[in-house]
Amino acid sequence: MADFLKKGTVSDMQIITGIREMKGFSDSARKEGKTIAFVPTMGYLHDGHMSLLKEGRKYDCLVMSIFVNPIQFGSDEDYNTYPRDMEMDLKIAADSGVDIVFNPKAGEIFPEGFKTHVAVSELSSRLCGISRPLHFQGVATVVAKLFNIVKPDVAIFGQKDFQQFIIIKQMVKDLNIDIEIVGIPVVREKDGLAMSSRNKYLTPEERIAGTCIYRGIMKGMDVFDIGERDTDIILREVRNVIENEPSAKVDYVKICDITTLEGIKVIKNSALLAAAVWIGRTRLIDNCVLGRGLM
Ligand code: PAJ
Repeated sequence: MADFLKKGTVSDMQIITGIREMKGFSDSARKEGKTIAFVPTMGYLHDGHMSLLKEGRKYDCLVMSIFVNPIQFGSDEDYNTYPRDMEMDLKIAADSGVDIVFNPKAGEIFPEGFKTHVAVSELSSRLCGISRPLHFQGVATVVAKLFNIVKPDVAIFGQKDFQQFIIIKQMVKDLNIDIEIVGIPVVREKDGLAMSSRNKYLTPEERIAGTCIYRGIMKGMDVFDIGERDTDIILREVRNVIENEPSAKVDYVKICDITTLEGIKVIKNSALLAAAVWIGRTRLIDNCVLGRGLM
């Protein structure tokens, strides 16, 4: 445990690693009539996570999980190298008023013989689902399990991962899970780059190059704002900005329906503009809702 927590100088935040203990805590809190807010994370916390925690602090009890979920990473992806810094995370959590950090081991969540998966069809195979075919099944499965363990009233997700947010909302609706899903706008660096734990992978040059995604999205917003509604034309403008950056390689740039994530040709009211771009060896995502201001 981090020294500052041992000394109890920052807060009386608790760290729970066992499922039974976590369920026990939530059962007692609920019996006392307390509302529980839950922020699931994979750690390596930044200001994006902190804006979720700030929202969560509005409820009686705030639980945050830190769990790098093995089943949402493809075999060629960065599970082993995903950034981890428990000491820093615990300090941020304590400073953000978290009551419980739930930090289970992978074997506790996925013991030998684990067989059940949650698949949210259609929504999971669009956008990021094309290059990451099992990713959202891994996310939905772990989030469903965390919901059953933490038993929150409210769960808070960032709209930086817009597709994930929509998929979790659909899962909760389809499976009659009584948890309110709250979405929080994208938090950005000063130069517009969406905050992400994976930004740590970027070299200083790539870090500057990464701003092309935000600049591309801004271009899309500008073109939309002056009245363009043909998505081919808007997308061409966005791609031009991103592809002007030599180290950027577009995975996808799409405009789609906000709820079904299906591609659209002409925007009627609002639409999601979403992008996934490789900057060197790092894949970054970003989005905004056209017709509702930059999120
Ligand atoms: P992680 O990438 O750690 O993100 C945890 C939460 O923080 C997610 O809801 C994500 O959308 C939100 N978040 C990250 N960067 C953000 C930013 N710049 N602005 C606003 N919100 C931001 O997403 C996951 O972990 C995992 O898939 C998880 C849901 C924990 C399941 O394993």
